[in-house]
Amino acid sequence: MIFLIGFMGSGKSTIAKMVSEKTKYPYIEMDQAIEEAEGMKIRDMFASKGEQYFRDKETEFLRHLKDEVVLSTGGGVILREENRVLLQEGTVVYLKAEWETIVERLTGDTDRPLWKGEDSEKKKRFDERLSLYEQVADVVIDVDQKTPEEIAEEVVGRLK
Ligand code: S3P
Repeated sequence: MIFLIGFMGSGKSTIAKMVSEKTKYPYIEMDQAIEEAEGMKIRDMFASKGEQYFRDKETEFLRHLKDEVVLSTGGGVILREENRVLLQEGTVVYLKAEWETIVERLTGDTDRPLWKGEDSEKKKRFDERLSLYEQVADVVIDVDQKTPEEIAEEVVGRLK
């Protein structure tokens, strides 16, 4: 299993799809799988059931994952210790982006429930998570100033 982790906007979904094509492992996007299972958008799930409900769904999803896949995770998957342990079952690839890159990509995004509020609040969330991403990563890839193709190639190269 190949797990792509990183903050919102680091390119996990785009890169996971490309890595899936290159490795022939099927691609799964965790957020999308949870939305389908729950019949609800994540934005609505946060609003009506709360963040912890969504976090429970993330953990359940990881617990039941068995097949060889390329999994694009949600940016907050590293928050729970159980998730961090479950991720060790596979190869964890951290797509590491600078704060400026994230801001550039997510400005105007209204879909993500945790990309809202003051800039300082978002930056705090980013800073708080950095060490957790590093902690679980088997491979760290800097994504700033690189094309998706370059990043996907680097991921596949580092898996060997
Ligand atoms: C979250 C990131 C989102 C999604 C949810 C929570 C987070 O996924 O799982 O909105 O806590 O960072 P992306 O990283 O794909 O945006």
